[in-house]
Amino acid sequence: MGLGVAWLVLDRLGLTENGVCIINDVSLKVGAGRTAILGPNGAGKSTLLRLMHGLLRPSAGAQHWPAPLTQGMVFQRPVMLRTTALANVEYGLKLRGIKSPERRQRATAALERVGLPAMAGRPARRLSGGEQQRVALARAWALEPQVLFLDEPTASLDPASSREVERIIREIAASGTRIVMTTHNLGQARRIAEEVLFIDSGRVVEQSPVEEFFTRPRHAAAKLFLEEETP
Ligand SMILES: Nc1ncnc2c1ncn2[C@@H]1O[C@H](COP(=O)(O)OP(=O)(O)OP(=O)(O)O)[C@@H](O)[C@H]1O
Ligand SMILES: [Mg+2]
Repeated sequence: MGLGVAWLVLDRLGLTENGVCIINDVSLKVGAGRTAILGPNGAGKSTLLRLMHGLLRPSAGAQHWPAPLTQGMVFQRPVMLRTTALANVEYGLKLRGIKSPERRQRATAALERVGLPAMAGRPARRLSGGEQQRVALARAWALEPQVLFLDEPTASLDPASSREVERIIREIAASGTRIVMTTHNLGQARRIAEEVLFIDSGRVVEQSPVEEFFTRPRHAAAKLFLEEETP
């Protein structure tokens, strides 16, 4: 099941590390434009995201891309190079062989889209956490990936920064990039996602359209999670 035509298929995917089963027999199809992966701490959200992106090799099963798609990923604590914000955004473009002046133009435009044109010349590592997260989003967005994986994109950000990052994520999605994100923020999942994957102890136990998940969760673990997380 799932929304839309599948662009990523997981087939009995599993990951065991040091004898610990972290991802357990996950089969599903992702077809939505905006997917949120929800679940308790340690459930396996980040690991599932890394498997999807191909950063980790499954120890069982496989994933299939019905058509090859370009991918990007932004991590919870983005790694900034010891240079300016603009050079950080340009770096990814440089790796793709894009030469200046196009490289400079695309990086500048990406920084503008995330609301940081004034920070272009600032040392990236001196920026606040929220600003660094936006530079990381600009860096990923400048490459115009067809799929963008986001791991806890607003963890440790204050409400205003979180809202700004949400706005950017919605814009990236509106530009045609498919989004798969983990989050602890249920309001954020509801505001951004079309579909929810709920993971519990390494198993994806529910895949539902977002409103259905929040109003009529089917799985007992999902119900409990929503009760505990909702004030
Ligand atoms: N290399 C490893 N060896 C053993 N256990 C691991 C390894 N990597 C991750 N784990 C464990 O796998 C489980 C899932 O980790 P993961 O980071 O995917 O969870 P998560 O759902 O993203 O949690 P959080 O909400 O805290 O971000 C955790 O119990 C973690 O300790
Ligand atoms: Mg995580």
